[in-house]
Amino acid sequence: MLPALAGEGDVIFSDELNHASLIDGCRLSNAACVVFRHADLNHLNELLAAHRDTARDMFIVTESIFSMDGDAPDFAGLAELRARYGAVLLVDEAHALGVAGPDGGGLANEADVVVGTFGKAFGSFGAFVAGSARLRDALLNRARTAIYSTALPPASAAASLAALRIVLDEGAETIGKLRRNVMALVRAVRGAGFGAGIPPAPLFPW
Ligand SMILES: Cc1ncc(COP(=O)(O)O)c(C=O)c1O
Repeated sequence: MLPALAGEGDVIFSDELNHASLIDGCRLSNAACVVFRHADLNHLNELLAAHRDTARDMFIVTESIFSMDGDAPDFAGLAELRARYGAVLLVDEAHALGVAGPDGGGLANEADVVVGTFGKAFGSFGAFVAGSARLRDALLNRARTAIYSTALPPASAAASLAALRIVLDEGAETIGKLRRNVMALVRAVRGAGFGAGIPPAPLFPW
């Protein structure tokens, strides 16, 4: 996705705790990559302001639920920065889709581009990018890592589709159960004498 959208003259602003796949995507594009402190929107604001006059296009890249710390950025604040600087907001929802947000739909409603994987909550394999029809056309024509690689096996696509239907049909119930299990774990950890915050998603750093 990133090399298809960003190139020379562009600047990608990347959260310092972003997943390796996002870091490598930044490297594979010829854009300049600027790292901002984890979920620190003041720092991001400073960096955007410093580059706005010289950058061609600016991209903000973040996860919605971070894979190691289980926390989430301030999406309202990100949306504001996106609007203020005319930047493109790309969010990796790998750890949120199927388990967080209304009916498991994830957290990044304001994003221009959403990446999701079927390898986490959906228990399958493969991934997708969601966005506008123009974005889809751009990726179909320019995403070299997808174009020049074997397509998703049909069995994996069918498994993902089946999982998606389960989330759509039973999501509220299963996500509710998942949440209760997370809270049981929080109580058990606290009962054992350890400090534990309440995570926004079922990702529990220990
Ligand atoms: C945030 C994030 N994005 C992407 C991936 C990669 O997903 P996949 O295994 O479907 O390639 C992972 C996997 O751990 C991840 O944590």
